[in-house]
Amino acid sequence: MIEIDEFLFPRRVVAAPGAAGRLGSLLTGDRVPLGAVMVVADAVVHDLGLDRAAVGSLEDSGYDVVVFAEIEGEPDDLVLKRAIAAARAAQAVAFVGIGGGSALDVTKLVAHAVGGDVEPDDLRGPIAPIANFPFLALVPTTVGTGAEATRVAMFAVDGAKRAVLSAQFVPDLAVLDADLVAGLPATVVASTALDALSHALESAMSTTSNDLTRQFSVRASQIIFDRLRPALGGDREARGDLLYASFLAGVSLNAGVVLGHSLSYVLAARHGLAHGVGCSLALPYCLAYNQTMGEERGAELAAEVLQDETADLRLLATRVAELSADAGLPTDLLGLGSTPEESEQIASRVVADYPRPTNPVPLETGRLTTLITHLRTGDLAGAWTAMGATP
Ligand SMILES: NC(=O)c1ccc[n+]([C@@H]2O[C@H](COP(=O)([O-])OP(=O)(O)OC[C@H]3O[C@@H](n4cnc5c(N)ncnc54)[C@H](O)[C@@H]3O)[C@@H](O)[C@H]2O)c1
Ligand SMILES: [Fe+2]
Repeated sequence: MIEIDEFLFPRRVVAAPGAAGRLGSLLTGDRVPLGAVMVVADAVVHDLGLDRAAVGSLEDSGYDVVVFAEIEGEPDDLVLKRAIAAARAAQAVAFVGIGGGSALDVTKLVAHAVGGDVEPDDLRGPIAPIANFPFLALVPTTVGTGAEATRVAMFAVDGAKRAVLSAQFVPDLAVLDADLVAGLPATVVASTALDALSHALESAMSTTSNDLTRQFSVRASQIIFDRLRPALGGDREARGDLLYASFLAGVSLNAGVVLGHSLSYVLAARHGLAHGVGCSLALPYCLAYNQTMGEERGAELAAEVLQDETADLRLLATRVAELSADAGLPTDLLGLGSTPEESEQIASRVVADYPRPTNPVPLETGRLTTLITHLRTGDLAGAWTAMGATP
């Protein structure tokens, strides 16, 4: 029979325009005792008033709301420490995160730190579950990380990213409110949607994927291919669909990502790119590298995602690159001041800093250098031929 090692999913999911304005009754309905609720919000989201309906509904239901809205860009240990101190001072018993992955990740980490009396220095890698993890609700306002469905939370210490893993980070409640992404800048829609597509397709390639996570990968990818272009044109419905797709991709992400994300971390750090921009550059080349994972497996994934039974992995990679280009994202490194010598340097960094034992094809510096040489100039066809040889 089909075997599943583990499949994580939020305890409750609510998806509807305006749903954030029902948070108060959702919490009381879940028997969350009246007391202090900490809302951790992205600073821009707070300034735009996008957390107002949620805060108002919590107050109307009788909760004492403390808003911590200091999340600006990707979080570090300093902002995390401030958030933990504020939560302890308020004696918060429940946590609501509103924002992109940055704010949602801080919310998860604060809930764990407060509930388990743990300090940020002890938060690294897989962490042990705590006895009384507080009630956690996550409300995304970008269409990217799917953090509202994942066991991951990231923060930076001295500039280096740290991933913290706990099944308890998959929340009690995920609220997908399309109204919150209606005004998202098109550049953020583009980069975060390509991040979500990377989560879906990379996790489908991971050796730790299973039948359930792959179903979520395929559905998420189909929606992103269908809906990203209209969403960029401002179509509200399409943006809501992308929010849903990024959640589905977050569910699949619990199977882990592979080479594409390793490459994207190195590219983003080196060239100052948003995470999703690095992902979109890397994804077609990640597919090229992994073409030798098995023709049948690759063709099956491509056929399901593109809804075309004649499709193969190469066509899927081409379609991804076309989608990125249509979304106005770079498809090569030439405009970024890249030099020929950097191919080998990037390859070495990927292998040293972000090894991926679950990538279906082992990471090897020489082969990666060749891959990145083609990525530099946007030569996907050349990469495909070069990676076709047995590794
Ligand atoms: N937990 C996970 O599973 C997971 C997975 C991947 C990445 N991450 C982390 O998530 C972070 C990236 O998250 P992200 O891509 O969602 O970006 P983000 O949270 O950093 O937000 C991106 C930008 O968009 C702005 N913004 C957010 N919502 C907005 C809205 N509705 N309207 C206008 N502006 C808005 C923010 O202020 C910010 O400037 C990184 O720190 C990354 O490490 C987490
Ligand atoms: Fe990502």
